[in-house]
Amino acid sequence: MHMQLDGRLRRVISFGKRKVFRYAKKGIDMRIGKQDQAFTAIATSDADSITVRGHNLCDELIGGIAFTDYFWLLVIGEHPSPAQRKMLDACLVAIAEHGLVPSVQAARMTLAAGPDAWQGAMAAGLLGMGSVVAGSSETAGRFLAEVMAKAEADGTDIETAAIASLHSLKERREKVPGLGHPQHSAGDPRADKLLEIADELDISGPYIETLRALAKHAPGIINRPLPINVSGAIPAVILDAGWPLEALKAVPLLARTAGLAAHLYEESMRSIGFIMSHKADIAISYDGKTSKRD
Ligand SMILES: CC(C)(COP(=O)(O)OP(=O)(O)OC[C@H]1O[C@@H](n2cnc3c(N)ncnc32)[C@H](O)[C@@H]1OP(=O)(O)O)[C@@H](O)C(=O)NCCC(=O)NCCS
Repeated sequence: MHMQLDGRLRRVISFGKRKVFRYAKKGIDMRIGKQDQAFTAIATSDADSITVRGHNLCDELIGGIAFTDYFWLLVIGEHPSPAQRKMLDACLVAIAEHGLVPSVQAARMTLAAGPDAWQGAMAAGLLGMGSVVAGSSETAGRFLAEVMAKAEADGTDIETAAIASLHSLKERREKVPGLGHPQHSAGDPRADKLLEIADELDISGPYIETLRALAKHAPGIINRPLPINVSGAIPAVILDAGWPLEALKAVPLLARTAGLAAHLYEESMRSIGFIMSHKADIAISYDGKTSKRD
């Protein structure tokens, strides 16, 4: 079967319910999605110069800008204000390192098994930064935005929307993003410090208000102590500082890359990767089927 799409003749191949469009004629390039935004505003270069976000890399940036400012400039396209710089710096320091957490274990065991593959070991660590631990800032940030949007849509205040959202999470038996910590059950000191800095810098806004409303009502609704954790505090303070929601994940990822670098360097000098894998082998018992020989 043939059909006319974008003015060109394509063959339609069906795989069950799925339809795949193939060009009928050979030599026509494949196009997927809209093609009308063929621009990047981040960097460009020619034989003599490299321009990043409108600044000459060698004349203005190298040796002229600190890395936290550069990170903000790269992602957002503007220099941070002093308060934004301090808040981002604080978030990066807060989440860079927390000992032998799963992302670090994955990275160190990978380096022990492949000492020549730092990039693979680093990637293994970053891949473990998901919605449960280490990378959960993004999930928490999106949840805060959802609660704020609910307040606006319902024409209520943030506290009312937070209470309704907590009930809805409870009904669905889902965890409250950004709250709870198995080790810091009395309160995550990193979260408290970040919120304190945000207050000092006077950047507290709707995200922090939403987080505080959730933390106030969660224990009563979920029926257990649920302190704000670092992955709840990071999105609240950095979004109120003006960081975009869509780039939230970059903050813990960049920070943990620095922590992983320390662990990979230590791993290459004094390996514990195989000790961890040995201890896991001892800690976890086999309860699968026995073989016929037994
Ligand atoms: C981090 C996390 C995985 C720890 O969970 P945990 O190891 O079960 O922690 P605890 O042992 O303290 O939990 C005790 C109980 O509280 C519950 N609980 C913990 N955090 C919860 C949350 N955010 N919302 C609802 N219930 C929660 C647990 O399910 C557990 O319930 P159970 O006894 O009925 O099984 C959990 O708090 C969570 O998923 N939080 C949301 C994601 C997040 O913010 N992650 C960032 C961590 S820095």
